Amino acid sequence: MKLEGKVALVTGSSQGIGQAIAIRLAQEGASIVINYRSHPEGAEATLAQVKEAGGKCHMVDGLTIQADTGIVTDVQRMIADSIAHFGKLDILVNNAGIEKNADFWDVTEKDYDAVMNVNLKGVFFATQAFVKHLLDTKQPGKIINISSVHEELPFPHFAAYCVSKGGLKMLTRNLAVELAPHGITINNVAPGAIETPINTKLLNDPEKLGALLKNIPLGRLGQPKDVASLVAFLASADSDYVTGTTFFVDGGLLWNYQEQ
Ligand code: BGC
Repeated sequence: MKLEGKVALVTGSSQGIGQAIAIRLAQEGASIVINYRSHPEGAEATLAQVKEAGGKCHMVDGLTIQADTGIVTDVQRMIADSIAHFGKLDILVNNAGIEKNADFWDVTEKDYDAVMNVNLKGVFFATQAFVKHLLDTKQPGKIINISSVHEELPFPHFAAYCVSKGGLKMLTRNLAVELAPHGITINNVAPGAIETPINTKLLNDPEKLGALLKNIPLGRLGQPKDVASLVAFLASADSDYVTGTTFFVDGGLLWNYQEQ
């Protein structure tokens, strides 16, 4: 087990990729703060699996915290409550994310703000609160942002989403340099098409799904655990010399171009 004695907070871990990450980190021996916005049942399900995963290791514990990661005061409270409960925080996984599908000319300010607040602003200030804790306690730490292939790749009709993920790319590069002297690393994990609630609509549309699968060289959608295994590496000491980098988990989607 790579994470024994560590405490990790995973935002948006009541479902999808975040849930798989929470469980995987618990399997590695970490205690987990499970954050959710509107699915307490999902968070409880994650908690049950975290406890089960840690069954063999009595050090593993879990805590659920409701917080809207699009609201700065919420993310500050979430970090503070995590530290108050466990006495420390070693790993922050900024996973929570949303997307809105609309033609560029129809995007409303409300939808733009919703996407930017959760995907970028909340990450910025959660990370800030986490870093202040690490500096105060003179501890090293690991930050892992769940970005997207769309931090590089255009995604027509999802302009705000792409802007937010592009912002995450630069946040990570910038902070890698600024935080390195303090023993804090930061990396992005950029999933492609993973089977999760964020793309339920697409998964239920056989035509669109077929077209998407043709773009994935490995010929299948990713599973949340495909992402979680990479996060487990980045959260562990095995990745101590890795910072400021994006890792794509996309079955080859990003670099696929073929003439038919
Ligand atoms: C989006 C999905 C999309 C996938 C591949 C992800 O970032 O959340 O909706 O299917 O990228 O384009």
